[in-house]
Amino acid sequence: MLSKTIASGDWKGEKHVPVIEYKKDGDLLEIEVSVGKEIPHPNTPEHHIAWIELYFHPEGEKFPVMVGRVAFTNHGDPLTEPKAKFYIRTSKKGKLYALSYCNIHGLWENSVDVE
Ligand SMILES: [Fe+2]
Repeated sequence: MLSKTIASGDWKGEKHVPVIEYKKDGDLLEIEVSVGKEIPHPNTPEHHIAWIELYFHPEGEKFPVMVGRVAFTNHGDPLTEPKAKFYIRTSKKGKLYALSYCNIHGLWENSVDVE
């Protein structure tokens, strides 16, 4: 199964793990997802983060919702940081999931609870 190939870990020690941070303003969630927050990931044509996807799984619901996908298409000069912001409006609690892809080291995930 593809899901068995998805790696995770502590983002403070593993540069591939996407970091999810959010701010809440009423029902508006501002979500920032970045890769390499503590230990920068290379960004070259040979080795780079190609994309990040964000999902929201509302508490008690069966399926997650795909919030969006950002593809990073430049890996030379100027350097593109593998970091993106997403905005959703919801009053639901649930879980945010981020998935990122390194062209050499594959798929990486992380999640945070939304209170
Ligand atoms: Fe990598």
